[in-house]
Amino acid sequence: MAKERLDKLLAHEGFGSRKDIRKILRKYEVLVNGSRTYDPATQIDPDTDTISVDGEEVNLHQHVYLMMNKPQHVVSSNKDGEHQTVFDLLDDSFRTPYLQDKLHLVGRLDMDTEGLLLFTTDGELTHRLISPKNHINKTYLCCLEHPETPDHQQEITAQFAEGIEVGPDDNDPPFTTEPAQIKWIDASTAHLTIYEGKYHQVKRMFIAVGNKIAFLKRISMGRLELDPDLKPGEYKELYDDDLEKLNN
Ligand code: URA
Repeated sequence: MAKERLDKLLAHEGFGSRKDIRKILRKYEVLVNGSRTYDPATQIDPDTDTISVDGEEVNLHQHVYLMMNKPQHVVSSNKDGEHQTVFDLLDDSFRTPYLQDKLHLVGRLDMDTEGLLLFTTDGELTHRLISPKNHINKTYLCCLEHPETPDHQQEITAQFAEGIEVGPDDNDPPFTTEPAQIKWIDASTAHLTIYEGKYHQVKRMFIAVGNKIAFLKRISMGRLELDPDLKPGEYKELYDDDLEKLNN
């Protein structure tokens, strides 16, 4: 594993800014592999070195969990020759070699979809959330191109509740969706909750009932809701209370 500067690692572990860390190094006993260090540039291998601050061992591999309000026109992947990616929106403290290796997305949103996107280093959580067996619910705000009459809304509600056959998309074959719930907000706006995440699923569901998505935004996963204070492109770290909401 590539080495990293001590101050960058400690900043990432929540010890403050690099300036704060220079103060900590002067004031407190910071040990690297048992030896006192004052040098913020000390090179650390997070896989083999140990650090303690004032007698407390620092866990260098605490998992990171981030919630982003993904903006439109940005790709949900870590590499794209052409477009800006969601990883490009993270600040430098999330670009350490360790995080570049381990931080990944929990599922994806289409380029033109906005809303709740999770990043984590925790592979177990990712596996649990994207496994089709677990049926984690995802709710989307759906703005439709064409307003629906109350009668057709009722029909759509019933078809989605039953499971609907959607057509092929790119190389993805047709399939029948699992039962899904829709809550109509007005003639052309609804909240749709699905329990799977197939390719272009929401868009294909509305095409199957003769409409089209004009704007799509994921607003929750499990009981975890997109923080309304996050503007598109902004993100925040999540902690235990938030993660608890991702349990079924
Ligand atoms: N369904 C879609 O069609 N697109 C998304 O981005 C997410 C769900």
